[in-house]
Amino acid sequence: MYPAGTLRIHELTTEERAIYQTLKPECMPQHVAIIMDGNGRWAGHRSLKRFLGHQQGAKSVQLVTETASRIGLPWLTLYAFSLENNLRRPRAEVNFLMRLLKSYLEGNVQRMMDNNVRIRYIGRTHELPSEVQDKMNWAADMTARNTGTTLTLALNYGARSELVDAFRALAAEMKRKHLNPEHLTEEDVHRHLYTAHMPDPDLLIRTSGEMRISNYLLWQIAYAEIYVTERLWPDFRGIHLLEAIANFQRRERRFGGLSDSVGITDEEAEHAKIAVS
Ligand code: FPP
Repeated sequence: MYPAGTLRIHELTTEERAIYQTLKPECMPQHVAIIMDGNGRWAGHRSLKRFLGHQQGAKSVQLVTETASRIGLPWLTLYAFSLENNLRRPRAEVNFLMRLLKSYLEGNVQRMMDNNVRIRYIGRTHELPSEVQDKMNWAADMTARNTGTTLTLALNYGARSELVDAFRALAAEMKRKHLNPEHLTEEDVHRHLYTAHMPDPDLLIRTSGEMRISNYLLWQIAYAEIYVTERLWPDFRGIHLLEAIANFQRRERRFGGLSDSVGITDEEAEHAKIAVS
């Protein structure tokens, strides 16, 4: 259930509202993470250069964020640029993505303000060009007091390197405080992740049909529901976010337990024959 004050349902399109009205308010996800994939293919299908796919993808980022803010989604985390993208894509494409990010931030901070969106980042962002970091910090500062959706962009992000960074910080803390490794808990690891301040994603969406996690939020998605759509990211809109949430609400989340109807009694367990062949 989202706090009533954060909802702006009247701003949804008629089609979006029709889906929203079918949703159960008590089962809304708190955190949706998205692997935005398919920009290159979107451009290729139209015989356009790849960079036009990224440009169109940036539009989807803004439109999906606005729908998220209208329905009061507290956390939206988008995989915008991976460590692997940085290392393995041609320099010209990486430079274009950096320029696109800067102009995205410049051009959309006012819309974020209008939509009460706060922007933040996760990843090894200190390795990005300094003028990009300056723009990122500017946008984060400008929107820091907004109380609606927190849009987190994963930039120069990789989940394994996030874990390495967390373990380094944890090891330093243990040394400083003379902590016994036997006493370490999952909570200690969680405290040192880039995402320490957010709940884990309930729903992970991947566009463009690939059945991969691509080194995204590996620790945090332990119990996330995964929704893969064939739709390419530049064609993904708020209505598709709502469709993904409707699909999420049809899932039975068990967190490693059982649904109420299928448990067996202690007596049944006692008398059950164990047959291993
Ligand atoms: C995958 O497309 C997408 C990315 C490389 C990252 C997402 C980037 C954007 C949505 C654009 C910029 C975002 C912001 C926030 C300004 P791909 O090139 O891997 O597509 P393909 O698999 O079809 O080649």
